[in-house]
Amino acid sequence: MLGSVLSVLLILTLQGHDRVVEGQMQRAYDYTKYHTMDEILAWMKMMVTDHPDVVSSLVYGSTYENRSITLLKVGLKSAEPKKMIWMDCGIHAREWIAPAFCQHFVKEILGSYKTDPKISEMLKNVDFYITPVLNMDGYVYSWKDNTTRLWRKTRSPGSGNCTCLGTDLNRNFYANWGMVGISRDCCSDIYNGPSALSEPEAQAVTDFLSTNRDMILCFFTIHSYGQLILLPYGHPNITAPNQEELMQVGLAAAEAIKAVHGTDYTVGTPPKVLYPNSGSSRDFARLIGIPFSFTFELRDKGEHGFELPQDQIQPTCEEAYQGAMSIITYVHDKSYLRGAATSLAATLWSVLLAMWLSSATV
Ligand SMILES: *[C@@H]1O[C@H](CO)[C@@H](O)[C@H](O)[C@H]1NC(C)=O
Ligand SMILES: *[C@@H]1O[C@H](CO)[C@@H](O)[C@H](O)[C@H]1NC(C)=O
Ligand SMILES: *[C@@H]1O[C@H](CO)[C@@H](O)[C@H](O)[C@H]1NC(C)=O
Ligand SMILES: *[C@@H]1O[C@H](CO)[C@@H](O)[C@H](O)[C@H]1NC(C)=O
Ligand SMILES: [Zn+2]
Repeated sequence: MLGSVLSVLLILTLQGHDRVVEGQMQRAYDYTKYHTMDEILAWMKMMVTDHPDVVSSLVYGSTYENRSITLLKVGLKSAEPKKMIWMDCGIHAREWIAPAFCQHFVKEILGSYKTDPKISEMLKNVDFYITPVLNMDGYVYSWKDNTTRLWRKTRSPGSGNCTCLGTDLNRNFYANWGMVGISRDCCSDIYNGPSALSEPEAQAVTDFLSTNRDMILCFFTIHSYGQLILLPYGHPNITAPNQEELMQVGLAAAEAIKAVHGTDYTVGTPPKVLYPNSGSSRDFARLIGIPFSFTFELRDKGEHGFELPQDQIQPTCEEAYQGAMSIITYVHDKSYLRGAATSLAATLWSVLLAMWLSSATV
């Protein structure tokens, strides 16, 4: 109740600052700050209201504390059935840069599709399904006060006699559940839950992905920190059938990231570049046949860790956007430009060209 009152107040406040950018309405919103759950929900409403022909919202589940899990669908209307790109942010509560990235990503697409023919072409062929905050309960808790700032898990009660709360959502998916890199102690940050899909948030994503798996070209899940692009699988003894291609596409994305601010990202499977794990959403997506599935671990490499300063939000998002776009361009062209040359070099070149064009117009 208080939340919706605050949302209305926020929207009223924002309406005082309308400005017109390149012929379209872009209301002021500070993308260089971290935002509360209520502010992000108000922002989502604003995106739908301001871009009704391109953006709609969809509730696809409910959290343990009964918040509505909502995504933004971004795309141009088409008579043909459209392929899908999935992106979720904020599966781990304390990784605040991730929701900031999802918001930046939506802003960038909406700000560029009218002038950038490649983005426009992609929005005609595919719809983006973007969840700015998946673990909403945890995110709200991480904003409560300093002592809860580093909360990672959901907020559901532990099983049996365990008095700790929360399951690690990224260990709770039905993908080699419970096999490696987990804890059965419900007080642990990597507790994988009483059973696979015990958490309604993991169930909601599972249902959406399973229903639409034939249409989803690419799955992104955004985390921090470590500056990594992670490929399936987290289990050391299981290899994706297209691992070689995933690696090449990931390496091209790392190059696109580096070209923006010189930031180094490492690419590989979790056992190779981080640690083995199981039950992740990335692995589940690949397991059910979604061909391209990536985890981004955004900045930094540990200096500030989860508490990345706000002055790094913009550069972190700018570079990661180019990394994601490099992958999206590749998977789009592979699916829609059959017969045409879709080399990674060509993809990287078009990303660099687009960056040069956009920097020339700033
Ligand atoms: C969520 O809603 C259900 C149905 O109204 C209710 O039984 C349950 O107690 C609620 N859960 C929480 C954590 O508030
Ligand atoms: C929270 O942390 C900030 C920054 O370290 C500090 O200024 C503030 O006093 C802290 N607040 C509480 C309630 O501990
Ligand atoms: C919970 O605690 C009770 C009483 O101490 C004990 O009898 C029971 O076995 C415990 N249950 C589990 C699952 O550990
Ligand atoms: C992977 O395979 C090796 C060799 O068979 C085995 O020793 C190891 O336990 C396996 N790792 C996991 C996590 O199952
Ligand atoms: Zn994470």
